[in-house]
Amino acid sequence: MKNKRIIAPSILSLDYSRVSAQLDELLDSKADWLHFDVMDGHFVPNLTFGPDILRGFKKACPLFMDVHLMVDDPAFFAPVFIENGADMITFHTEALENDPAKIKALVDKIHEQGVLAGITVKPKTDICQFESLLDCVDMVLIMSVEPGFGGQSFMEDQLDKVRWLDRKRKEKDLSFRIEIDGGISGETFRKAVDAGCDTLVAGSYVFKNGICEAIERLLS
Ligand code: DX5
Ligand code: ZN
Repeated sequence: MKNKRIIAPSILSLDYSRVSAQLDELLDSKADWLHFDVMDGHFVPNLTFGPDILRGFKKACPLFMDVHLMVDDPAFFAPVFIENGADMITFHTEALENDPAKIKALVDKIHEQGVLAGITVKPKTDICQFESLLDCVDMVLIMSVEPGFGGQSFMEDQLDKVRWLDRKRKEKDLSFRIEIDGGISGETFRKAVDAGCDTLVAGSYVFKNGICEAIERLLS
């Protein structure tokens, strides 16, 4: 059975001068998830939100919290964000030297804490090396920009990874989600969906175009 399409607005692009009005709009919209980008200033050259902010968002906006860890030490931070409201933790394989054993250990640790687990790769990282992990993850996130900032252009060549994942998902009869993050707009989303994505992160497109309308378009 095909996974339902889910839109995960990235709060990186939220207008922080009117947070509560934007959260009300999100709750009125067809968004099922919120995408919460955690950056530590080391793994990527930008700093964002800590666990207290996640807890506040969860209280004000009880959507599924899709936490994307862009940090050097995901094994340390995963439990911290789980305690503060994460429903899904997705971490970068590069932060664990792309070592399948270390990656599997962290996926298991996240599952033990009752939360879904995803893995993600930067644009230059090969995804095929993680084929053996596909049956233990809930989601694979393909980055379609270099992680660190919103508002960058969509890297269409990353869709080859999505097509490979979708093929493996069918061959192995698995149901992990395929999420895409970076440069998703009213135009690019269609290519991502056609390639096999079922979970679309969108930051600037959603928050700069009228939240409800932009999400409707991404679901069309
Ligand atoms: C980038 C983040 C994204 C970002 C996407 O490192 O992971 O989630 O918010 O922003 P847009 O949709 O503007 O490319
Ligand atoms: Zn993200």
